[in-house]
Amino acid sequence: MKRRISVAGATSATYASNPAYIDPTFSAAVIEWQQQHGRHALPWQLSRAAYRVWLSEIMLQQTQVAAVIPYYQRFLERFPTVHDLAAAPSEDVMAHWAGLGYYTRARNLHQCAKQVVELYQGEFPSDPRLLQELPGIGRSTAAAIAAFSYGTVAAILDGNVKRVFTRVFGIAGYPGIKTIEDDLWLRAQALLPASGIESYTQGLMDLGATLCTRSSPSCPRCPLQERCVAYKEARTAELPTRKPKKEQKEKSAIMLVLRHEQQILLERRPETGIWGGLLSLPELDGMQVGVHAADVWDARQDAILSQASTFGDVAECTALPAFEHVFTHFRLHVQPVQVRLSCVYPLVAEQRYVWSSPAQMKQAGLPAPVKNLLLALDSEAAQQELTFGSA
Ligand code: ADE
Ligand code: SF4
Repeated sequence: MKRRISVAGATSATYASNPAYIDPTFSAAVIEWQQQHGRHALPWQLSRAAYRVWLSEIMLQQTQVAAVIPYYQRFLERFPTVHDLAAAPSEDVMAHWAGLGYYTRARNLHQCAKQVVELYQGEFPSDPRLLQELPGIGRSTAAAIAAFSYGTVAAILDGNVKRVFTRVFGIAGYPGIKTIEDDLWLRAQALLPASGIESYTQGLMDLGATLCTRSSPSCPRCPLQERCVAYKEARTAELPTRKPKKEQKEKSAIMLVLRHEQQILLERRPETGIWGGLLSLPELDGMQVGVHAADVWDARQDAILSQASTFGDVAECTALPAFEHVFTHFRLHVQPVQVRLSCVYPLVAEQRYVWSSPAQMKQAGLPAPVKNLLLALDSEAAQQELTFGSA
């Protein structure tokens, strides 16, 4: 029994455009430029056959044109039609993909060929909504296949096109964010030409790949220059907005072990953030990860001493062995510095600081690595006393 294909995922709302964005001069400029300066002799441009167009678009999803060309040609020699591909053993398909990377594409490609044979007798549909239901074909790829094979007027929006649009229209905000992406789709729909969809679609791809490149766009040669916000405002370096960085993977901190007689100074941490609300050692911001303790000392000496001397008179200051602690989202490199104070000042209105005896510290809920550090120092001190005692 043949499965029926639904188009529930792609409603007409998905294909909406915003009338405010309509501007036929945009597509006219792209089409004229493509016909004069765009790419015309790529192997997949020699045929409108949907099977070939589809194969090239899948290969080009995450791979550069130059790398794709030999694979595309070998693939077509071995699997000349969608029927050949559907009937092939998967090992054979994978072997012809080997080296292109992103192997999910190859598995989807094979599944897609089987579905096209089973559901559509080997004829790719011309409706992008139907294409989009097939394995490995997203909204933009569906539109490209429909446009190149059948002349269907449908909007593409791949990474290159997002770059061109965000620059031309001066759209800030990471284009992966739903609201930004939705807006870009509304524009992409509104800017579609009434005729010449093949040149327009190829033109957007060519512009993004050859002129409006990520790091050094060739604005003087660009047909969109006089309407380009990023060019006018010199913002091509900042558009498109980069993906917000995930939490920093590596952090570093200097921990102060401030000692006075048997006591050590502890500080209550802010309620939010790591070790929220716990007593811990006072910290200074660290420095570049991997820096040698001696260099930490050189670079942060003034900061360490000025921090320490707010609590008393500094008698001695030594860097202790560095260690690291691994959290779920980052790795904390800690450089402990021990400071002996010959006398301490009263802690005026500084409720977050407490001088603690060894007994109090054992009771306090200290973060595990801080506790371990203090225990190690404690046993070292005991060891030394033992050594001195027996000497
Ligand atoms: N990248 C994605 N589709 C392409 C195409 N048809 N030509 C060149 N580069 C592309
Ligand atoms: Fe891209 Fe420059 Fe053209 Fe603007 S003018 S679309 S930044 S190449």
